[in-house]
Amino acid sequence: MGDRFTGRVALVTGGGSGIGRHTARALAAEGATVVVAGRDKDALAETGGVPVVADVTVESEVEALLATVADRFGRLDVAVNNAGVFGGGMPLAEMPSAEWDRLVATNLTGVYLTMKHEITLMRGTGGTIVNVASNIGAHGRRPGLGAYAATKAAVSVLTRNTALEYIGAGIRINAVSPGPADTAMSLWPGETPDDRAARLASALPIGRVGSLDEITGAILWLASDDSAFTVGHDLVVDGGATA
Ligand SMILES: NC(=O)c1ccc[n+]([C@@H]2O[C@H](COP(=O)([O-])OP(=O)(O)OC[C@H]3O[C@@H](n4cnc5c(N)ncnc54)[C@H](OP(=O)(O)O)[C@@H]3O)[C@@H](O)[C@H]2O)c1
Repeated sequence: MGDRFTGRVALVTGGGSGIGRHTARALAAEGATVVVAGRDKDALAETGGVPVVADVTVESEVEALLATVADRFGRLDVAVNNAGVFGGGMPLAEMPSAEWDRLVATNLTGVYLTMKHEITLMRGTGGTIVNVASNIGAHGRRPGLGAYAATKAAVSVLTRNTALEYIGAGIRINAVSPGPADTAMSLWPGETPDDRAARLASALPIGRVGSLDEITGAILWLASDDSAFTVGHDLVVDGGATA
């Protein structure tokens, strides 16, 4: 276990489960004080760290979240914008517009809003931001999942452009695009996480889904000084799916 984040203040959105929870715990294990944000208070409390209930689709809640970080710690060194929802699962003309709105609001507007208020707090001191996109945004081909893929591709583009806008201010912004990982996201009805892992593994060149350590390892690398010369990059971690 390293100590790359000793003395640093970190924020992880979607910190109550899956990749976000694992990332929050990994940051804490390497010395960070970690604020975890999401909509489920109990889930956040189970993760550990400093739980703050906030919906990333609501600007006033994102502003209040960053105000809490500012009040309690006076700074923000690391932000991992991981909150996201999976959905769609049907051809475009069949998909209710409410489902489109839900995906865009969480996966894209949520990243815009969190980056906006994180950058405001990081100005002057600098910091690192890692947005969690998806390899589906990079390869873009998954009939039925076009809306989800489009939100993730947009996160990747937004990451690159925002990185160029703020690297001069010492704020280094990158993205991680995981492939199928060992979480409960995108379970089919009645499917267990093990069934899901087996289903997805068969389509991956490496023959298995990614572990939480493997996804979190990439996030922590981009959040740390180990990647100090890496700016505006979208690191695809997907077992060869987009190779
Ligand atoms: N697992 C994969 O195979 C995979 C692959 C590629 C990319 N990803 C991306 O990785 C990220 C994490 O996914 P995961 O696999 O760890 O799934 P997960 O366990 O469902 O995590 C998503 C988290 O986002 C939070 N969230 C959702 N809507 C929110 C909102 N409006 N405001 C605040 N928090 C919200 C959820 O908490 P609440 O609902 O309690 O708020 C949950 O903790 C997502 O962005 C996902 O798209 C996952």
